Amino acid sequence: TVSPAHSASTASTLITNIAALVTNDPSSGDGSPLGLVQDAAVVIEGDRVVWTGDQSKAPATDNRVDAEGRAVVPGFVDSHSHLVFAGDRTQEFNARMSGRPYGAGGIRTTVAATRAASDEELEANVTRYLREALRQGTTTFETKSGYGLTVEDEARALRIAAAHTDEVTYLGAHIVAPEFAEDPAGYVALVTGEMLDACAPHARWIDVFCEKGAFDGDQARAILTAGKAKGLHPRIHANQLSYGPGVQLAVELDAASADHCTHLTDADVDALAGSRTVATLLPGAEFSTRAEWPDARRLLDAGVTVALSTDCNPGSSFTSSVPFCVALAVRDMGMTPDEAVWSATAGGAAALRRDDVGRLTPGAYADLTLLDAPSHVHLAYRPGVPLVSGVWRRGERVV
Ligand code: NIG
Ligand code: FE
Repeated sequence: TVSPAHSASTASTLITNIAALVTNDPSSGDGSPLGLVQDAAVVIEGDRVVWTGDQSKAPATDNRVDAEGRAVVPGFVDSHSHLVFAGDRTQEFNARMSGRPYGAGGIRTTVAATRAASDEELEANVTRYLREALRQGTTTFETKSGYGLTVEDEARALRIAAAHTDEVTYLGAHIVAPEFAEDPAGYVALVTGEMLDACAPHARWIDVFCEKGAFDGDQARAILTAGKAKGLHPRIHANQLSYGPGVQLAVELDAASADHCTHLTDADVDALAGSRTVATLLPGAEFSTRAEWPDARRLLDAGVTVALSTDCNPGSSFTSSVPFCVALAVRDMGMTPDEAVWSATAGGAAALRRDDVGRLTPGAYADLTLLDAPSHVHLAYRPGVPLVSGVWRRGERVV
């Protein structure tokens, strides 16, 4: 129930006439993981959800919004993006769509453009892609450095990111900086030394691209361990382009998430299943690189927690749309619509070790996405259609 003692500055709002409300609270509604409530209402007070349930039982509030029989889901939690960049890789994309394979080398193009950009230009890019994501229902996002690869450029990227989100990731180990092409060990020393010292104050997470052509398992272990010693929590780009040690390393280091997970052995799947490391799948990358899909079904059947995110970046996945990723995951990765919606909300929150976002339960942030559809299933059933008709972030209507 709503406290009657609330002040005018925390006015309460009732959103009612919700045909289908996804709470992600299995103890609500239909008892499924989505905790689906039909003919539901939500009460927001200040920046929080204070009540959800059957609309006929909703408490009295100051304001009222009629959802007109549409569906409400928790705002999407995009737990993997690379938004601090400049420039464009249209030519590379064109070449790829004519048959050229994707490789980590394209990252260098964006590094050069990002280094050359002003702070204002980078800031304007982040703002633009965030707006774009918000209009598509994303209310929490993680974003990374990784296109600077010098002490100053990495710290600058993180400062710019930190002005927009708490979920900031230091990815100095995206590729070996071009200046260190002949001295990768020297670059790892920089990433774990001076660069880490400059970056750690601006970040929550540390990430490594563990892949042929980027960093091997031993380098990745050294980098993530150094980050942990500075108070950063590990996450990792693992097993994207080939089989490799990334996923097992994630589990060994209790990383919050192993991201991509496209090429997995049975031992990799078992390791994830026996851990609290989330497998974050990024279908925009397979779409945009014409690669083989990650097998979400195999992971889910093994009991692994799966998140779905965009990987928004100018090289491998230039989409900011979580609904697009949900549709791909359902069509091509063996997920049900319910599983994909859970993974894009509660799954993303788990990948960020958060329980205050990704669900609509009393105490959680009032981050809600209103769909121009009677059911969350339409996110997959109506691919490519702009279904987001309203967004509340921290209790405020922003779309
Ligand atoms: O997650 N895999 C490494 N990093 C990005 C790609 C970055 C780029 O191509 O610019 C990814 O796909
Ligand atoms: Fe990525």
